[in-house]
Amino acid sequence: MSPHLLSVDSLNRDSVNHLLRVAAQMEPIAQRRQVTRVLEGAVLGNLFFEASTRTRVSFHTAFCRLGGSVCDTTGFTFSSMAKGESLYDTSRVMSGYCDAIVMRHPDQGSVAEFAAATHVPVINGGDGPGEHPSQALLDIYTIDKEFQRLGKSFGGAHILLTGDLKYGRTVHSLIKLLSLYDPLRITLVSPPGLEMPTALIDLVTSRGHQVEVRDHLATDFSDLDVVYTTRIQKERFTEEMNENFQGISDDFIVNKVFLDQRCSESTIVMHPLPRDSRPGANDLNVDLNGDPRLAIFRQTDNGIAMRMAIFATLLHVDSLIEKDLRSVRWFVPSQTGTLDR
Ligand code: NCD
Repeated sequence: MSPHLLSVDSLNRDSVNHLLRVAAQMEPIAQRRQVTRVLEGAVLGNLFFEASTRTRVSFHTAFCRLGGSVCDTTGFTFSSMAKGESLYDTSRVMSGYCDAIVMRHPDQGSVAEFAAATHVPVINGGDGPGEHPSQALLDIYTIDKEFQRLGKSFGGAHILLTGDLKYGRTVHSLIKLLSLYDPLRITLVSPPGLEMPTALIDLVTSRGHQVEVRDHLATDFSDLDVVYTTRIQKERFTEEMNENFQGISDDFIVNKVFLDQRCSESTIVMHPLPRDSRPGANDLNVDLNGDPRLAIFRQTDNGIAMRMAIFATLLHVDSLIEKDLRSVRWFVPSQTGTLDR
């Protein structure tokens, strides 16, 4: 594996399988039953120049659960970039302070530019509409776990990617990662103007996968294994798109009616989150909350184990985990609240 994780392009089936195996080893730690100190003394720089809850906090938590500590900055306002500092200078400075860096930035390619100026591992936490490799890895980890639970396998699986496929960086990374697997059926459905970039469709097709583009969700999906839906990334729209965008029509909504009438009992529903719950946004519907097919919170939980696996692999402590486990002495009461998993 390359010293950084900037794009899923640096991964192959072997490195993905390795990360899946290490993530599975991390489960007892992620589930707070065991602890490890393999990253004791290491410091993570967590630099987020775009809005984030899950990615920022789960990278932070994952590093802490490996025994390391974290320093972070959020937004441009409180960083020296607000004073005109370049990515190069920020990178050189941060590498003197930290042992690994996670960065999210609104410009495509910016995280790679940042990584070119440092000698510590850099993970792309999302670069504009570009890529989000750790999300794609946790998505693959989730699909793999869900398929194992349901007695299914990747080969020949039917996966639907829907929502904003043009600006959604999670689906850009995910479709490339899926293309490393045995031939799949991938269906793409997006509102007009938000289609998956042609170059990505061509790449996946050239690797032997069957890609079908449909105009709406109102068709038969009874053989569907996964529906992966995404938020409309309005913050990345051009002015013209903002003026012309009509909103999401009923034809694109993933809700209980869609799942009950078009899909099957074993279709799982994923979303990188956040889902836009404001009235009229028509993102993934809350009427699926409590439905066992809704895998979104299992997916977010899986993010901790996968991000721990990424850090452990990039910092070369992945082989030490097994020997460095202790049981926790504390516990979180599991009977509080209404957690559906
Ligand atoms: C996504 C992102 O930031 O790309 N969120 C995430 O990291 N889980 C998706 C989104 O913002 O819609």
